[in-house]
Amino acid sequence: ANDGYKLWLDYRPISNSQLKSHVEPLLNEIYFYGDNPTYQAIKNELNLASQKMLGKVPIYSKDRLQNTKLWIGTREQLSQTLSLDQQSKIKALGEDGYWRGNIELDGKSFYAIIGNQPVGALYGVYNWLNSIQSNTFDKTIELADNPKIKIRMLNHWDNLDRTVERGYAGFSIWDWHKLPGYVDPRYTDYARANASIGINAVSLTNVNANALILTTDFMKKVKVLADIFRPYGIKVYLTARFSAPIQIGGLKTADPLDPEVKAFWKKKTDEIYSFIPDFGGFLVKANSEGQPGPHEYGRNHAEGANMLAEALEPHGGVLIWRAFVYSHEDDVDRHMQANNEFGPLDGQFKDNVIIQIKNGAIDFQPREPVHPLYGAITKTNVGMEFQITQEYLGQATNLVFLAPMWEEVLKTKTFRPTPTTTVASILEGKESGQKLTLIAGVSNIGTDQNWTGHLFGQSNWYAFGRQAWDPSLESKQIAEEWIKLTFGTKPEVLSKVEEIMLESHEAAVDYMTPLGLHHIMGRSHHYGPGPWVMGGRADWTAPYYHQADSLGIGFDRTSNGSGALEQYAPEVAKAWSDPHEIPEKYLLWFHHVPWDFEIKDGNTLWDGIAYHYDRGVKEVRKMQQTWASLESEIDPAQFDHVRQLLEVQETEAEWWRNACLLYFQTFSKRPFPADIEQPE
Ligand code: GCU
Repeated sequence: ANDGYKLWLDYRPISNSQLKSHVEPLLNEIYFYGDNPTYQAIKNELNLASQKMLGKVPIYSKDRLQNTKLWIGTREQLSQTLSLDQQSKIKALGEDGYWRGNIELDGKSFYAIIGNQPVGALYGVYNWLNSIQSNTFDKTIELADNPKIKIRMLNHWDNLDRTVERGYAGFSIWDWHKLPGYVDPRYTDYARANASIGINAVSLTNVNANALILTTDFMKKVKVLADIFRPYGIKVYLTARFSAPIQIGGLKTADPLDPEVKAFWKKKTDEIYSFIPDFGGFLVKANSEGQPGPHEYGRNHAEGANMLAEALEPHGGVLIWRAFVYSHEDDVDRHMQANNEFGPLDGQFKDNVIIQIKNGAIDFQPREPVHPLYGAITKTNVGMEFQITQEYLGQATNLVFLAPMWEEVLKTKTFRPTPTTTVASILEGKESGQKLTLIAGVSNIGTDQNWTGHLFGQSNWYAFGRQAWDPSLESKQIAEEWIKLTFGTKPEVLSKVEEIMLESHEAAVDYMTPLGLHHIMGRSHHYGPGPWVMGGRADWTAPYYHQADSLGIGFDRTSNGSGALEQYAPEVAKAWSDPHEIPEKYLLWFHHVPWDFEIKDGNTLWDGIAYHYDRGVKEVRKMQQTWASLESEIDPAQFDHVRQLLEVQETEAEWWRNACLLYFQTFSKRPFPADIEQPE
């Protein structure tokens, strides 16, 4: 039975004889130009793949001129065998790009996989193996690709005691207790999985940071991981607790302008680089949700970030500073607080600082309108923070494929700085010329046998890597790639699983937070519905986010309300200020709307809300039926795992629908439409 451990790298025997006849000779006669740790990693992968696909080990040749068929190397190493035209084409791909295709030399033809650097060759090999597994390899076709984003990063929210904040797949895979002495083979498999989808950076620790990770003892442990990841092109980052100078440095202050504090960080950073010469840098959450930061000393975010950036600068390190800042003690709409803080600081951050902004202004809700900081600041490096772990999207019991949600965000037009600007074009650095580009995703990985708890959680890890590599990829294509690698290439499986995946996000939005509703989940654990009184603080107390009353429902963020809409470009603010013009999916995010307001399909708002919740439940049942029809096609263990979880998902969808509709009915005082399943 397939326990899912091997992820999308579970190479299957090649059954197509024609394909086999193309692949086999290549794996029989491989020549590497030179040697380095990345080529060793490639060889390990080829050994594994070849044994699974062909039942035998590949053969490596030491002599290029003797019987070689597959060449692997860098552009420089292969320069004598490449035409000038080929060389310049490959060079144009940038440092992480690769080219693969046929090369003719002295009347013989060879297949070559070439990177500008060894890591490019690694990416090319993974892409080639992927094409074999998905039955699309054609040696006559030339293929080249390169990432559009420089830093493609996982953010682990892993604590040093191995609990994972918002993690639903077991404990942290970083076994700090046994490191540095014991090296879990899982670390290598983790690196392989990431490299195979182009992820090249990982922050190991929770953004709610523990300063101890910066002590020498932990550095020795981190070094082991960094050494394992290096051949796979992956750099390690750590979260830096802003008050570390006090906690582990013996100082009385963490004031970023204090000379002793600066000296602490400089020394600490130098020490880290003495262990890890290619250390990526720090990721910092400051002055948000109780985390320490520069505000304690009357300093702003730029002063805080720049001080750390200065310590990293001599080593080429990057300082990633999060824009997820808000204080519940501040009366200002939480939606607006990041823009209020960072807007005035635009242009004040050092060149090696990136501001990491969540996709929306509240917090990874099932659907959020884009964060208004995108396009609002143009003189500062900005990067994306997506959440792969499904904190608000059913955690590890719900099948929700996130690529469509991310695609929607990436394609959103911000109208700033130009009328054609999209979130993707900002992230790619096209709008500002920013060189340091970043897409980060909060990891959904843990010690569960299949890494992500839900088998389909793997598709979100996969999709994240692919979209961080190329933000213009379509979710449909990504789903197809993952399905073929995970379940094989049968057309029926492909079309049915694809249908399930591509409809799953809209279904979840329908049964959780349709029409722009948000932040109505259970308090603190964020699991299941909780639109009623929560208490604890003002923004957790109903009806803060939904504002339901006898007249209607929704959060007024127009100029009559909080005014958050004015933080967007005038084109957006204007269109979205009108409840008839705003895309309906954001209606209640920005407007307080009467229960009898007529929505686009002609229903009243109240009936529309009920229909959405009802549709969400029905969609899950449809997903169940589609899955059930695949029983004979899917590995029994995987089939049953997903079948059971879909049952849980159905129960949860009903729970959301019933709870939310019955609760909102206490305000609307209207009956449910007769043709929906009546909530009880
Ligand atoms: C959410 C999440 C927290 C997390 C925070 C963050 O609020 O619930 O657990 O710490 O985001 O992104 O910093």
